[in-house]
Amino acid sequence: ENVYVGVDLGGTAIKVGICNEQGVLLHTYEGPTEVSKGVDTVISNIEKYVRHIVEESPYSWEQLAGVGAGVAGFTNVREGVIVLAPNVGFKDVPIRSILEDRLGKLVKIDNDANVAALGEAWAGSGNGVENCVCYTLGTGVGGGIIIDGKIYQGFSGMAGEIGHTNVVPDLEAIQCGCGKMGCLETVSSATGIIRMANDAVERGDHTSLQSVDTIMAKDVFDAAKAGDEVALRIVHRAAYYLGKSLASVAAVLNPEMFIIGGGVSKAGDILFDEVRSVFASLAPEPLQKGVTIVPATLGNDAGIVGAAGLFIRS
Ligand code: BGC
Ligand code: NA
Ligand code: ZN
Repeated sequence: ENVYVGVDLGGTAIKVGICNEQGVLLHTYEGPTEVSKGVDTVISNIEKYVRHIVEESPYSWEQLAGVGAGVAGFTNVREGVIVLAPNVGFKDVPIRSILEDRLGKLVKIDNDANVAALGEAWAGSGNGVENCVCYTLGTGVGGGIIIDGKIYQGFSGMAGEIGHTNVVPDLEAIQCGCGKMGCLETVSSATGIIRMANDAVERGDHTSLQSVDTIMAKDVFDAAKAGDEVALRIVHRAAYYLGKSLASVAAVLNPEMFIIGGGVSKAGDILFDEVRSVFASLAPEPLQKGVTIVPATLGNDAGIVGAAGLFIRS
């Protein structure tokens, strides 16, 4: 029996998992990315975690038929190069060939949100849906476009970078990790939410949020749910721009379903209710008909399953 390892390379953690040929996730493992230690350490960590999970599993190294990796950054899928991944600290890294050399296995790479979208369309919320768009809200904001059941890659394999669509009005825009101003990622990512919370605390706004160093996105959601007006305003701002983005994407692609995943999506109804209402008020009515906005169901595993799916499902 052959198995595949899926790798989800994010700014905070590297998650790995073993899938069988049916795409069933059998084991997972995760460790820190250690971005601050540089590119070589991050690559060694990937190798280490891949070897570790195979060792811990009932499968042998020989049974490992391929390693698929989803990478948080602009990824040239055709050439196997990470072109720019600010959250992982990579620029022009030929990751596919490096990993193939180190592991002695076939490697495929794609963008993390693209593979999460594939995972969700395949085994998660979008099961059976042929046209859907997935957003991942974490350290960054990722997007994955599934058209006719396949990842839409675009000209150089970088389609679906929805986090870098310009949505924030110029006067309120701040700079994004990509270098440009006003990207969706600056407001709807966990990083953006934490920044807005810190700004509010520093300004002295009346809020239960405290301690500038340690605010987590979850603290902001919890405060919002407990009725903190400042926290609620922040969550609504994140949701507003997300809803606005969905409305634009609906007009361009007419997907059947929007799947929202990543840590921020765990905010639940306070986020989703607002996203749905913004979408309802901004998207032209014919484009809303039959369209659903749903949370991702594979949760943290979507990226791993989708990355392994690069082998099993293409
Ligand atoms: C990157 C995307 C990635 C997303 C989520 C963004 O900053 O540009 O490539 O999909 O973060 O990790
Ligand atoms: Na993408
Ligand atoms: Zn950007």
